[in-house]
Amino acid sequence: MCLECKRYIKEGDSVSQFDSICEVQSDKASVTITSRYDGIIRKLHYNLDEIAYVGKPLVDIEIDASKGVAPEEDVVETPPMSHEEHTHQEIKGHKTLATPAVRRLAMENNIKLSEVVGTGKDNRILKEDILNYLAKQTGAILPPSPKGEIIPPLPKSETVPAAPKDKARKIPLPVSRPLVFSGKDKTEPITGFHKAMVKTMSAALKIPHFGYCDEIDLTQLVQLREELKPLAQIRGVKLSFMPFFIKAASLGLLQYPILNASLDESCQNVTYKASHNIGVAMDTEQGLIVPNVKNVQVCSVFEIASELNRLQALGSAGQLGTNDLTGGTFTLSNIGTIGGTYTKPVILPPEVAIGALGKIQVLPRFNGKGEVFKAQIMNVSWSADHRIIDGATMARFSNLWKSYLENPASMLLDLK
Ligand code: COA
Repeated sequence: MCLECKRYIKEGDSVSQFDSICEVQSDKASVTITSRYDGIIRKLHYNLDEIAYVGKPLVDIEIDASKGVAPEEDVVETPPMSHEEHTHQEIKGHKTLATPAVRRLAMENNIKLSEVVGTGKDNRILKEDILNYLAKQTGAILPPSPKGEIIPPLPKSETVPAAPKDKARKIPLPVSRPLVFSGKDKTEPITGFHKAMVKTMSAALKIPHFGYCDEIDLTQLVQLREELKPLAQIRGVKLSFMPFFIKAASLGLLQYPILNASLDESCQNVTYKASHNIGVAMDTEQGLIVPNVKNVQVCSVFEIASELNRLQALGSAGQLGTNDLTGGTFTLSNIGTIGGTYTKPVILPPEVAIGALGKIQVLPRFNGKGEVFKAQIMNVSWSADHRIIDGATMARFSNLWKSYLENPASMLLDLK
């Protein structure tokens, strides 16, 4: 069973093969269903937000006679949520890999996919690749467009503070959401990812959480990222701070494997997970989702960045699938991209620990000589399952993670 949450067509519309028909969302994944045929939409079997049933007809399409096929009606059914099948289609005879949403974006901008270099896995063309291609064509510089924020131009005389530069320029404005002015209360069903959040967070409440917080001096890391960012960019990857946070966590987990474990329901056995599948809380249009970067223990910082780019592109297109959203073993939540300092993160069962990162701020701190300097400070807040993790273990792990980030060169010693 899945839920229709966005529709791209109406009855009477002409569609071509691979055109998006609608988006369906279950509590695990959201995928775009595309047309298998050229033709005309004759019947929609569901209204928006109705629950569609797997295997039952979704739309009737009258197949286009001009394509040499006799007119007839065919039915596109609601598929089971097999992510790979429906979000990563390959057109026969072409090697271009791209999701339907990316194909649509290319089509809307008259871009031939064959002319775009894909930077995703197996050269898959990502949304970012299309946007970069467009930017190159138009000479435009594409700024990241965080939701709900408008970046006003700076007066020429204004000086930009040290990295992360743009942050001081962002003026939060109210997000334009439909407001209820009718004077009547409105009740709506909890669906999709919100439903999953209800389930997961209710289960998490049964876990006794232990909290531990600290501040991290990222002055060196901020500088290092400034140097590495253009190099990653040349290789088609956006390098944020997250890949460093994730890699440092994985190096720490090697020393403290209990934090990358799970406890069975009867609390009789602990399973130490071999893979470091590190989940990243993502704020998307559909709500909070937590895809994970698989096997971080064998990934370079660059590989993590590349995978994170892929997950972010799919996340913002609402196309993350079950494989990306399941199997996480430890989670990081960078709420600092939105704001805040300390928080109380909630563990994602069956995981046993989670870290939340606050915003990086320029603050005065003392160096070894007792001199005040401009430090790039970030707060971290950990929560751990206190049934199997004691405070000392959490604090030691946090210290190690902190030391890798405060002296990023020290990571080199332990990188494989
Ligand atoms: N403080 C200040 N700036 C930060 C930051 C922090 N803690 N973390 C990242 N940034 C910067 C990035 O470096 C980047 O700057 P740049 O454009 O100069 O490179 C910018 O903010 C945007 O980063 P973003 O593209 O969002 O990438 P990311 O890898 O840092 O973060 C996500 C990716 C998915 C974690 C983030 O987009 C997100 O969704 N965060 C919200 C998580 C959330 O909702 N948590 C709550 C769960 S209950």
